Amino acid sequence: MHLAVFGGTGHTGRHLLDQALRQGHTVTALARDPDRLVVHERLRAVADSRHRNLYVAIARVAIRSLMRDKEGMEELIRASDTAWTVVRPAILTGGRHTGHYRTGTDLRLTVASRISYADVADFMLAQLADDTFVRRAVAITS
Ligand SMILES: NC(=O)c1ccc[n+]([C@@H]2O[C@H](COP(=O)([O-])OP(=O)(O)OC[C@H]3O[C@@H](n4cnc5c(N)ncnc54)[C@H](OP(=O)(O)O)[C@@H]3O)[C@@H](O)[C@H]2O)c1
Repeated sequence: MHLAVFGGTGHTGRHLLDQALRQGHTVTALARDPDRLVVHERLRAVADSRHRNLYVAIARVAIRSLMRDKEGMEELIRASDTAWTVVRPAILTGGRHTGHYRTGTDLRLTVASRISYADVADFMLAQLADDTFVRRAVAITS
């Protein structure tokens, strides 16, 4: 499959790229700094970056909270006619890739809930071949 990945330079994104490439997918990664992406024959990096400087960075923090950003993102996704799935992880850790985790639309996460970046990536890729959570938001924890 040909995947488009945003955030491939992040913690979860790096695991997602790594696992996607190992599974044989072809990936176009859209990153602000493509030089920080892994190099792979089936990975194409797209270089787009808005102008960033200290003023822009401070302004973004001052006028937008992270949660408002996330809520806006989810609204856009929900309004789209794509086969979306929103994945809501517990507190992320650098733990092992286990392939064992609990997921659910009604799953309650607590302050003690944890999930590794690698297992979130595992679950995200598994959704490509499973429509159980299409057009749903799903929580994931170990
Ligand atoms: N940490 C937790 O415990 C936790 C719990 C629940 C949910 N989450 C959410 O889970 C997601 C993944 O977490 P993570 O720790 O893997 O994230 P991360 O390491 O911070 O990576 C975030 C990625 O998103 C990119 N990004 C952020 N803002 C962007 C923007 N405005 N335009 C373009 N790219 C942007 C970053 O690009 P750059 O590399 O260029 O900065 C990076 O590749 C995040 O949305 C996080 O908020 C985290």
